[in-house]
Amino acid sequence: MLEWIKTRRSIRKYQDRQIDPEQLDAILKSGLMAPTGRGSRPWEFIVVTDREKLETLSLTRGRSSQFLSGAPLGIVVAADQDKSTTWVEDAAIAAAFMQLTIHSLGLGSCWIHVRERQFDENKTAEDYVREALDIPESIRVLCILSIGFPAEDKPAHKQEDLLYERVHYDQF
Ligand SMILES: Cc1cc2nc3c(=O)[nH]c(=O)nc-3n(C[C@H](O)[C@H](O)[C@H](O)COP(=O)(O)O)c2cc1C
Repeated sequence: MLEWIKTRRSIRKYQDRQIDPEQLDAILKSGLMAPTGRGSRPWEFIVVTDREKLETLSLTRGRSSQFLSGAPLGIVVAADQDKSTTWVEDAAIAAAFMQLTIHSLGLGSCWIHVRERQFDENKTAEDYVREALDIPESIRVLCILSIGFPAEDKPAHKQEDLLYERVHYDQF
C-alpha cells in the first residue's frame, strides 16, 4: 500500500484509450466501500463518458479543469447533505480511495475541485456542474476525478520531501 501511495501523482494528460468496464467497476467499488460517518454512505457518483459532457465539465474551473476534455472518463463525486453532517469528509475519503485504486490499475487521475469554487463571477462551480448533469439541489458536489491511461510520467514522492517536522509526539 505504501508503494502505491508513494508513486501516485496527479495525472492530467491521457492516452486516447477507453477505460475497461471491469476497471471502472473496481474504481466504483473502492468508493462504495469507503468509510463514512455513522455508516451514512451519503455519496452519489456520476460517471461521465459522453464526450460532449466531458467538454462541458472541463470548463467548470478554467485552467484548473481544462484537462478533463482529454480524458475518457470523469467521475463527479457528490453527496446528499441531508443524509450526513460529514458529507464533505465522506465524499473526500471516497474520492481518495478511488484515486488510489485508479493508480493501482495502471491508470492516472486528478482531483478537480468544485465545492466553494466559482465557475464565473455569477455562478458557483457547483451550480455549473449541477446544471450540466441535472443533479438535484440537495446533492452537493465536492469534486470531479478526471481519469485515463497516463500520457505523462511523474516521479514518486521522495523521502526527503516528507514534512516530518509536522509530526508531533505526545504534545505539539
Ligand atoms: C482538495 C484538492 C483539490 C484539488 N484541486 C485541483 C484542481 O482543481 N485542479 C487540479 O489540476 N488539481 C487539483 N488538485 C491536485 C493537486 O494540485 C495535487 O494533488 C498536488 O499538487 C500534489 O501533487 P500530486 O497529486 O501529484 O502528489 C487538488 C487536490 C486536492 C486534494
